Amino acid sequence: MTQKDAASHDATDPSTANTADARTTNSADVGTANSANGGTTNSANAGTANAGTANSADAGTTNSANAGTATSANADTADSPDAGTTNSADAGTANSADADTATSPDSAAAANQDPDVASRHLAHKALEADDPTGWFEELYSAAADGRAVVPWDRGMAHPLLVDWISTAQPDGAGKRALIVGAGTGWDAELIADLGYDTIAFDISPTAVEAAQQAHPDSKAHYQVADLLDPPADWHRAFDLVIEIFTVQALPIAIQPAATHQVGEQVRAGGTMIVIAFAREDDVPDETLEGPPWPLTRASIDAFAKDDLRLIQLDRAPSPTDPNTYRWRAEYLRD
Ligand SMILES: C[S@@+](CC[C@H](N)C(=O)[O-])C[C@H]1O[C@@H](n2cnc3c(N)ncnc32)[C@H](O)[C@@H]1O
Repeated sequence: MTQKDAASHDATDPSTANTADARTTNSADVGTANSANGGTTNSANAGTANAGTANSADAGTTNSANAGTATSANADTADSPDAGTTNSADAGTANSADADTATSPDSAAAANQDPDVASRHLAHKALEADDPTGWFEELYSAAADGRAVVPWDRGMAHPLLVDWISTAQPDGAGKRALIVGAGTGWDAELIADLGYDTIAFDISPTAVEAAQQAHPDSKAHYQVADLLDPPADWHRAFDLVIEIFTVQALPIAIQPAATHQVGEQVRAGGTMIVIAFAREDDVPDETLEGPPWPLTRASIDAFAKDDLRLIQLDRAPSPTDPNTYRWRAEYLRD
């Protein structure tokens, strides 16, 4: 796709209307108006594909991202890390619940707790200790012992990634892919099976072990690495970079550094896919009670730097909660 192909399909949503050089589709179209997007296939497909194929998959991935519109119901019911997405309304219910009732994963009770609440509790403790990424290992390690549940472990690749692949039909032969914050590896497996020489990394050693155990015959290479300080030889070395829900899991103050590093791993001619919870631009940072801290349209635009261009942007409803939205952004490095 090129800029010449660019088309914006959302006449109503200001958050997607100014895409300049990217195709933009609003998920609102998805659920209701294939005809609006008619022959163009984009998010209309994404939305319907999700709805049709992946409700259960998306469960455990959360809705709250759409802070501003999401409600505490998300915190209670849903998509977790995703769900972790909180707005102040959530804060009123979920966080106080954290404070009053949440137990650490050290407690046997933690395994029975709402995974979103428990993981957010861990995250808040880590943030207080000025260790914004420390809680991931704690959570995975507690989950490995049966003391917690990893709320974002879908047990399958993300439906919006599945949908992108079914449309784009990328051929991985002779190409390299990088999966950011790979967790238990479902997205990495999908990409590796397309023929990409795939590196899937996570900051949590226990997550890497869990991924290796879950996929013993994997073609992907799982390894521990920190997105904020990636190996130098990854720099602009990958034909395909996949980022799903990692940047939003980091505090807003360090999201710009994380965003920059994701893009810096894409080689010339390479593609990057970002999937994240969507937040309206007018929802102030201070009202969020993450994780996650959903991404604004401006945050999505910030991935496009230098010759890395946003070429397609979809805003699709969560399969589990159509009132909340996900970004799926595709970038190309010239
Ligand atoms: C919300 S989870 C999403 C996992 C996976 N991408 C998915 O969609 O299921 C965020 C993941 O990023 C990992 N992570 C967080 N900070 C990281 C960092 N600085 N470098 C690498 N991985 C990180 C966490 O351990 C966790 O597995």
